[in-house]
Amino acid sequence: MTRHSDDRATGAAPTTASAQADRMVMIDGVGFADAFARRPFPVEHRLVDHPLLTLDGIAELADALPHSAVERHRADLPLVMPGGAPDQLDGRPSDTVRGIATNDSWMVLWNIEQAPAWRELLHRCLDDVKADIPGRDGGMMQREGFLFLSAPNAVTPAHFDPEHNLLLQIRGTKEMNVGRFPDPADQQRELDRYYDGGHRNLESVPVDAQTFVLSPGQGVYVNSFAPHWVHNRDEASISLSITFRTRRSEAAERAHALNARLRRLGLHPRPAGHDERRDRAKAVIVHGADRIRRLRSRADARQRAGM
Ligand SMILES: [Fe+2]
Repeated sequence: MTRHSDDRATGAAPTTASAQADRMVMIDGVGFADAFARRPFPVEHRLVDHPLLTLDGIAELADALPHSAVERHRADLPLVMPGGAPDQLDGRPSDTVRGIATNDSWMVLWNIEQAPAWRELLHRCLDDVKADIPGRDGGMMQREGFLFLSAPNAVTPAHFDPEHNLLLQIRGTKEMNVGRFPDPADQQRELDRYYDGGHRNLESVPVDAQTFVLSPGQGVYVNSFAPHWVHNRDEASISLSITFRTRRSEAAERAHALNARLRRLGLHPRPAGHDERRDRAKAVIVHGADRIRRLRSRADARQRAGM
């Protein structure tokens, strides 16, 4: 079986028009290569009529996934909700899926790649994207997929995600707003709050935002850590999010994590995400420390078991 989850090969030459014909996800390769890891970028896809992405297909997945992979709550949330929303819905996940047009709910199925058919679909789509990732960022790894279902007029509060994300609209229309804090210090404060243990929802909404109106067949690439928030229009929405890390974004994440540990010690480390070499050095420290911790806990377990 082909191994997809840690593909570190560098990106190929930008995709030509003729090469787009076989693809699930169509991207202007030249524009995408320039925008990648820097700013959002519109894409298109051919997933609207895919049998897995019907309400029945999604309902089957929702009941098959572990409970921890299903999140659902009321749809009428405020735009700023720093603590996250509580899971307030009962009943079978498939019932929430089938009633999404009328039940005033918001639902995520996390890590759809846990189901084999969905894993195949995710990899097929991300293989298309991988062809257009510029070599400077160090390939594609940690592929994950999420499904978002939301009632008419639902709001997804302002937040950021550590992954590179392509949000592909399957049903309904939504406005995806991708913002930027004019003052980098504000972005840094939100990132530090998150890595210090806070929720990924933001405490404020950036004023400088670009809006992408996504109808079925359209999508948008959102770079990692870009603040974004979503408004549904007046019908239920289904969106597929296909995500990944690069070597560079993974190093930045580990550097953020190390900085959080250093802050807990009362230190003031230089911000992560600006100097790749420094981030990678910090990533090596975090990776090494995690490895030592894992080895220690295994040794402790063996000792407890009398081995
Ligand atoms: Fe998001």
